[in-house]
Amino acid sequence: MSTENKQFQRRSFIQFLGKGVVATSLLPPFISACNKEASRRAFNLESAIKGILPSDSDKLLLSEGLDYKVLLRFGDKISKRDTFGFNCDYTAFIPGKTSEDGVLWVNHEYVDPMFVSNGMSKSKERADKEMYNIGGSILKLKKSGAQWKHDPSSSLNKRITAHTMIPFNWPEKIKGKSKAMGTLQNCAGGVTPWGTVLTCEENYHSCYGERDFETGEIIKPSSMYDWGEYYDNPPEHYGWVVEVDPQTGECQKHVALGRCAHECATCVELSDKRVVVYSGDDKIDQCVYKFISDKPGSLQSGKLYVANIEKGKWESLNIDDQEILKENFNDQTEVLIRLREAAKLVGGTPLARPEDIEIDPVTGHVLIALTNDVTKKNYYGEILKIEESEGKYDSLSFRADTFLSGGEENGFACPDNLAFDNGGNLWFTSDISGGAMNKGPYVSFKNNGLFVLLRSGENAGEVVQIASAPVDAELTGPFFTPDGKTLFLSVQHPGGQSNSLNELTSHWPDGGDSLPSPSVVTIQGPLLNAIQGI
Ligand code: FEO
Ligand code: CA
Ligand code: CA
Repeated sequence: MSTENKQFQRRSFIQFLGKGVVATSLLPPFISACNKEASRRAFNLESAIKGILPSDSDKLLLSEGLDYKVLLRFGDKISKRDTFGFNCDYTAFIPGKTSEDGVLWVNHEYVDPMFVSNGMSKSKERADKEMYNIGGSILKLKKSGAQWKHDPSSSLNKRITAHTMIPFNWPEKIKGKSKAMGTLQNCAGGVTPWGTVLTCEENYHSCYGERDFETGEIIKPSSMYDWGEYYDNPPEHYGWVVEVDPQTGECQKHVALGRCAHECATCVELSDKRVVVYSGDDKIDQCVYKFISDKPGSLQSGKLYVANIEKGKWESLNIDDQEILKENFNDQTEVLIRLREAAKLVGGTPLARPEDIEIDPVTGHVLIALTNDVTKKNYYGEILKIEESEGKYDSLSFRADTFLSGGEENGFACPDNLAFDNGGNLWFTSDISGGAMNKGPYVSFKNNGLFVLLRSGENAGEVVQIASAPVDAELTGPFFTPDGKTLFLSVQHPGGQSNSLNELTSHWPDGGDSLPSPSVVTIQGPLLNAIQGI
């Protein structure tokens, strides 16, 4: 492509990003207050902003001007009785009363028995150990100098696990029970306007299977854990969005948001304080959902909708609104339990694995990571943009378009977790699956990474690789502190493709002959500040 063409493309793209159409007076304070010259003096952004090249090394590689510290790793003591779980994913930092303290929530998505229960023979004890190491962690953090450190002495430190009894916030029982045992396969999530955390039960079928609703039988995937031999938990108790109060550890499962492989639950508060929650169902040919609460400060009741991308319509999943739902389901509870079937009946558009969702702070658009669909030779995925009519999040119509395509041209594949920083830049992680990485169509991307789409400055519109993950790992759960100076990031499943503990593919983070360890890191440095203009 000629330089002129490239410049023209970038100019168009910057306009597309919103920079060209949002008046300065409308920009959020963090953009208009940005003092670019001060940043440039403090750090040579122009050279550091080039980022890093893809890498297949067994390191967490970062761009020049950034450093990481391991905050917590699998098995670390977090209190007198609890330890940090396996495979950390979503992180959410809830600020405390001062700028020196806060609480970090961390999801623990799944366990790999090779690392968690290795050497234990099949038993309830082994199942219990695996069940303990998924769910989430509540962690008290304190500032020590410029660094965030875990405070193990705080009574706030807690684990929520696959054993924790959690009530359904719903007027009817679910499969005869008002409580479920545990939360599991906790992938991404969200934060409510009232400071609680939403954690999403994604691939729940790996734990207790999934019901075939025609025959009533439970379908069990071949790789399923054997926990069902010791605990009689029905599949219907999983696949929900779970709200956790990080101050108390109280949890509730929100039936009103429906049941599927929820990746995330991204909240927006309306002017009347009701809440809209966007969520993706991460499976090939599944849909994107939007929930609009009835009341402020609660997700107990409201209406759920599914996106019909072709028509630009949010289709109601309320049984009273849809004859076809009345014909196929007994009541609203059944619609919500069998959400995928209901969504297709009302016209929900099948998509290429909808994962994380974020709201663009500058344009207000809803951005959705569509990871890939290898069955249709869509190897690289894209980020989809939804523009709600009149910018209203409770609107029932929208326009949808591709925001950013994965592929060699843009240097990334398989977008997954999204996060905006204080400068309005979009950060995203990639999720090339362990078995596909460094092979076939993915060779040039090497290991998974962390990328940023720059919003302003001379490099606006460019995608820069900021980090490269250790071997087999996926970088997950990017989350910024309110001042933008610390980025929390999970390093999930390093060495996940190892055949055995004697044939490890990764030894991250300690190197040598050590076992790999999923860990949450804090990332800081002048590049982080300069990119945001802080
Ligand atoms: Fe757990 Fe969809 O990533
Ligand atoms: Ca994910
Ligand atoms: Ca993923």
